[in-house]
This record gives sequence, C-alpha cells and structure tokens, in this order.
Amino acid sequence: MTRPLKALILGDVVGQPGCRALFVGLPDLIRRVDADLVVANAENAADGFGLTPDIAERIRASGVHVITSGNHIWQKRDIYPLLQTMDTLLRPENYPVITGPGAIPGKGHCIVTLRDVPVLVMNLEGRVNLSPLRDPIQVGKALLKQFRSRVKAVVVDFHAEAVEEKEALGLSFDGEVSVVVGTHTHVQTADERILPGGTAYITDIGMTGPVDSVIGMKKETAVARSLTQMPLKMEVQNSPAEIQGVLLEIDLSQGKAVKIERVRQLSAV
Ligand SMILES: [Fe+2]
Ligand SMILES: [Fe+2]
Repeated sequence: MTRPLKALILGDVVGQPGCRALFVGLPDLIRRVDADLVVANAENAADGFGLTPDIAERIRASGVHVITSGNHIWQKRDIYPLLQTMDTLLRPENYPVITGPGAIPGKGHCIVTLRDVPVLVMNLEGRVNLSPLRDPIQVGKALLKQFRSRVKAVVVDFHAEAVEEKEALGLSFDGEVSVVVGTHTHVQTADERILPGGTAYITDIGMTGPVDSVIGMKKETAVARSLTQMPLKMEVQNSPAEIQGVLLEIDLSQGKAVKIERVRQLSAV
C-alpha cells in the first residue's frame, strides 16, 4: 500500500520575524515531520502587509512548494507580475473575473506533483467582514469539477474571518477534498478534526509570526487603536516568532485525510 502523503500547511507568515522563523526553522521541521508537500500563506510576509518577489523566492527556497495568500496580497504592487508568472503563487480564486485591461493578476489554483502524486491546491476568500467576492463555495466547486479527475488529493486554503462561514465551506466540501484549512485570523483554533466524509478541517491554522503581539502587530498600537478608535498605523512586532500550521496525512487511494494535527514550533532566532 502506498504510504499516505504528508502535507504541512502553514499560517500567514508575518513580517521579518515570521520570515526569519520560516527561513531558519522550516528545513528542519520538514525533515522532522517528513513532509512531502509544504504550503504556506504569505499575505503578510512583507512588513505585515503584502508580499514582494524577493521574499516569495526566499519562501520557496526554504522548502515551500505552494504560496497562498488573501486580502493583503494586493498591498505591494511589485508582486503583481509574479502572480502572473509563478504558477505556484496563488491569490484567492474568487475575485471578480475581468477580461482585458484591468484584469486582476494571478489565479487561485495550481497543481503540484510530489512523489509522482498530483495535488490540486486552491485558495479562496470569505465574504463576511471582507470584500463581496464571488461565492467561494460555487467557485471552489467549479474548480473541483474541472480538475478533480486529474489529481489524487485536494488542499483548500480558505482565507476568511467568520467561523460559521469557514465551517459551512468545510462541510460543503466534505468528502470532495482532502483538507480545508482556515487562514486570516492569525489565531490557531483547537477544532481540528476529520469530517464525516473524510475531509480534514480546522477553522484557523494560526500564523507564522511573532507570538507576543496582537495578530503579529505591535501590542501598544493595537491597544491604543482599541482605546481611541483611531486608525493608528499598525507595525509588525519585532519579537521571537513561531511557525504555526497543521500536519496532515492523506490516504492516496481516495484522497481523504486520515490524520490532522496542529503544529507550533518556536523559532530559535
Ligand atoms: Fe493574514
Ligand atoms: Fe487576511
């Protein structure tokens, strides 16, 4: 019997502390857990807001096969050309479809092959407290229809705010994909489970960023924002970071999950 595919999926990489933790700690973590596939959300990697080509390349070089993202991916415009050309750099699929001038760069899905196993990775974004995008469930289902027969496993990064929206999407895909992980809130939840149809699910996998912070940002500013209700500028907290995410085992005969466990690894730097 073929051994299960091991997939390591990491939460939003936040700023320099998150990047440092990833660059220094990921190669070791991959060896330790024997991961075949590594996916990381990097929407906050460049100073907390967006991503640059240089950082994207370094993230790939540290062992990440697919980079996913979310609402903050648009904040550094110099990533736009790379969204067009790097097949394994994703933005959520369900942004509006515009053809011709004004088209939105990039796409929200790719197929990567590890150990001769083709895996579909898709990136979707929620609509509660975020932009009114196309329905992520319908957009995801259309992608599945298009690619399901060509792949042995499907990984979904659902970048969303509301628990109910994340759980609803997870249940909608139960039995049709290997795993649905939530990202965006930067706080790891303890509800990881395998749904009745065999899809692994967790509401949020957390962040790869500074722990002693408010979602990766300076604590003092976050408290002042709360107290004053003024839109004070948020900056990344410069303190030791943790790699957070989940480790999955996917049975390749049916593409269903057999195990999901949370990962937290404090960086040595
Ligand atoms: Fe984020
Ligand atoms: Fe986000």
